[in-house]
Amino acid sequence: MNRPYTICHMVTSLDGKVTGRFLYTPEGEKASDWYYQLNRDYKADAFACGRVTMEGSFTGGWYPDLSEYVPAYSPMDYLVDDMGNFFAVAFDPHGVLGWKSNTIIDDDPGYSGARIIEVLTHQVDLRYLHYLQVMNIPYIFAGQLEIDIEEALFKLKAYFGIEKLLLEGGSILNGAFQRAGVIDELSLVVAPMTAEAEDKPLFTDGTREKYTLAAVRHQDSTLWLNYRR
Ligand SMILES: NC(=O)c1ccc[n+]([C@@H]2O[C@H](COP(=O)([O-])OP(=O)(O)OC[C@H]3O[C@@H](n4cnc5c(N)ncnc54)[C@H](OP(=O)(O)O)[C@@H]3O)[C@@H](O)[C@H]2O)c1
Repeated sequence: MNRPYTICHMVTSLDGKVTGRFLYTPEGEKASDWYYQLNRDYKADAFACGRVTMEGSFTGGWYPDLSEYVPAYSPMDYLVDDMGNFFAVAFDPHGVLGWKSNTIIDDDPGYSGARIIEVLTHQVDLRYLHYLQVMNIPYIFAGQLEIDIEEALFKLKAYFGIEKLLLEGGSILNGAFQRAGVIDELSLVVAPMTAEAEDKPLFTDGTREKYTLAAVRHQDSTLWLNYRR
């Protein structure tokens, strides 16, 4: 396979939603604790999230002042020395994530220490590339207007040696992966709660696809469902 084996790992409600207040109930928090344990147990080479999830979980919406940077000479993939072997892959088409370090710093060892990789399109401000270079953050291009998921995955394996990737949301990025047909495994921790109308589904604009149950476990009323394609 010329791309990483990809596992979509998510907490869902009983009605298949992945956002909303159900996540902050005792039932939702219990499901999240199990989710983080499973994240560590998978021992993946990388986890990937969309721009919105990265902002919510790691950058807090901070953005660098690009007037301090000059446009990069040309928009080409940029690799750095000594990249390590555990990565946080940010799918950030317009280059709007503000990182204050090139590594995730988190209480959870399932995330902490991951070296950041930015996946961009050619919509990015060329000054943002200079900012990433100053931060020693590698970046790859995949697509002109929208991220081409297959191209991104090909480069993630070829350049960084990523064999096993956890796709960890949110709904929009999961949907783009699912439409590209690159989700090999689903790992769903189902909280015993329903969600609300405005909450988002596992896959925004998903398509019909068959999976086969590989494992099922429960902790009280919380389920872990594992499906393979
Ligand atoms: N339940 C769980 O386990 C779980 C896990 C993770 C996240 N979440 C939740 O999910 C929510 C965020 O999900 P979300 O769906 O709003 O956003 P998201 O999927 O995290 O990020 C969406 C953004 O990613 C960028 N993107 C990258 N590649 C793309 C592509 N191929 N096609 C389209 N957009 C692409 C776009 O950024 P631009 O807008 O900059 O173009 C897009 O708006 C949060 O509330 C978070 O808490 C839940």
